[in-house]
Amino acid sequence: MATIYLENVVKRYGDVLAVDNLSLEIKDGSFTTLLGPSGCGKTTTLRMIAGLEEPTSGTIKTDHQVFYSSQDGLFLPPGKRNLGLVFQSYALWPHMTVWDNIAFGLKVKKMDPGSIKKTITHISELLQIEQLLQRYPSELSGSQQQRVALARVLASKPEILLLDEPLSNLDAKLRMDMRAELKRLHHETGATVIYVTHDQLEALTMSTMVAVMNEGIVRQYAPPLDIYFNPADTFVADFVGNPKINLIPAKLQAQDGQTHIDMGFLRLRVQDNPYPGVENIVVGIRPEHIKLSRVSQASPSTFQVFSILPAGAETYVRIVRDNLYLTVRIDGLTDLKSDELVKVTFDLDLVRVFEQKSGNRLSLSIANAVLEGHVG
Ligand SMILES: Nc1ncnc2c1ncn2[C@@H]1O[C@H](COP(=O)(O)OP(=O)(O)OP(=O)(O)O)[C@@H](O)[C@H]1O
Ligand SMILES: [Mg+2]
Repeated sequence: MATIYLENVVKRYGDVLAVDNLSLEIKDGSFTTLLGPSGCGKTTTLRMIAGLEEPTSGTIKTDHQVFYSSQDGLFLPPGKRNLGLVFQSYALWPHMTVWDNIAFGLKVKKMDPGSIKKTITHISELLQIEQLLQRYPSELSGSQQQRVALARVLASKPEILLLDEPLSNLDAKLRMDMRAELKRLHHETGATVIYVTHDQLEALTMSTMVAVMNEGIVRQYAPPLDIYFNPADTFVADFVGNPKINLIPAKLQAQDGQTHIDMGFLRLRVQDNPYPGVENIVVGIRPEHIKLSRVSQASPSTFQVFSILPAGAETYVRIVRDNLYLTVRIDGLTDLKSDELVKVTFDLDLVRVFEQKSGNRLSLSIANAVLEGHVG
């Protein structure tokens, strides 16, 4: 198969700008996820790739075929896109049993009955629908219908798989199992998967590339851990990660040839400052990159423990100071108690800085922490 290119793709529905000048290169063999909140344009993008929706303008093509080009007035219907794709949807054929729903595509491909039986047996075990094969879609729960739809798609082994929130109706355990199965399947088949989800954990754990979208715009397109550790802006930083990243208002201050980030309770010295005009910034630090130490005396740098949330493998501690709440993740358990005083230390390599106004990441590296507790 081939890489898929989306170039300056726009989709309007009347006044609604669903997809705003989107450009993406979806690499052959990748597991690419479109991630973003409800209404950000994920499904619309997927449907335009499939040919189920015609863009308002732009180009969609592979190395071999132009799917759509507004400039050349070209629109290739879904069936001719040579995608070998099956679009995931709930639309099971109501007059066919589960077995026949899954077998249909295989019969069209002229698979022999023995192989069909083998394929369906395997896939129905995988998706835990063996008991349902003789039922009709109307006799299934939402989760069961979703699994049958997924079984039907996976059984035909398409080279490009377009999946729109295929696990949304499954319970937590089944969803976890299915993530592992889908990732394994991608590994085994080398298919190109384009996956839509609003679940950041699903995107991080399964994908080779993630496009984080908001309001029809791709905010960042990068490998998942890059998205997590080096978010391009405060939207991406905030959307990815659970519990959320701490975003702390701060000032960038130049003095005597040195630049500091001043958060009130902590000052960090910056190595070089290529942003002389910027003053108002936001410091981003993830809960697992803050350390707490108990102190006995209150000072301008101390926080108070607000609440403790033990979860077994980890504990989340909320701390507060002057109306600023931070979330800290501690491995395992803690003997800290509510109302105790603590001091924070940041993992300086993992501090990220954003301009307050635009929300965009500033490339600043931290040299060291100075004058803790000194209120500037
Ligand atoms: N047929 C349509 N007519 C008018 N507006 C539409 C249509 N389809 C989608 N939209 C609008 O386009 C925007 C993007 O919709 P889309 O379905 O792509 O979002 P999504 O990211 O898939 O959201 P969700 O996570 O809720 O599925 C939304 O504002 C939606 O209301
Ligand atoms: Mg959608």
